[in-house]
Amino acid sequence: MNKVAIVYYSATGNTEMMANAVADGVRNAGGSADVIDCTSFSASDISNYDAFAFGCPAMGAEQLEEGSFEPMFSSVETLLNGKKVGLFGSYGWGVGEWMELWSERVINDGANLINQGVIANYAPDAEANEACNKLGAELAS
Ligand SMILES: Cc1cc2nc3c(=O)[nH]c(=O)nc-3n(C[C@H](O)[C@H](O)[C@H](O)COP(=O)(O)O)c2cc1C
Repeated sequence: MNKVAIVYYSATGNTEMMANAVADGVRNAGGSADVIDCTSFSASDISNYDAFAFGCPAMGAEQLEEGSFEPMFSSVETLLNGKKVGLFGSYGWGVGEWMELWSERVINDGANLINQGVIANYAPDAEANEACNKLGAELAS
């Protein structure tokens, strides 16, 4: 069973709720999960994990959060080549374009992206929580 890093940014708690739902899915499937604020994760942590979930809301204009998440992600993304990766995040008034762009980016990094990205409109509803649980279960095995 895999050791999974769940690395997220969240300003108002919506993406954080999703991170915890991904962790529940990992643990219920028998894996181990560390839920990590993006400011506490760096390239040297990559080798400690078998699989990764990254969570960031839509910010800017359909962008990743630029202050802390984007710098962290830029510094680790080349190391994701060949790794099992899932993406998730909350959005507001858009249609999820930031997640499409992010998914393409991660595929171009050579990662084994295991889904299209789980998105939730503001706070995750039951369906989004279930999708996060499922993502966690997929990362755990
Ligand atoms: C500065 C800023 C920029 C945002 N830009 C977008 C955007 O481009 N598209 C969108 O759908 N939502 C956008 N939102 C809404 C957030 O994605 C939404 O509130 C989300 O639930 C925040 O997640 P969090 O609670 O994890 O911080 C933006 C919010 C802020 C504060």
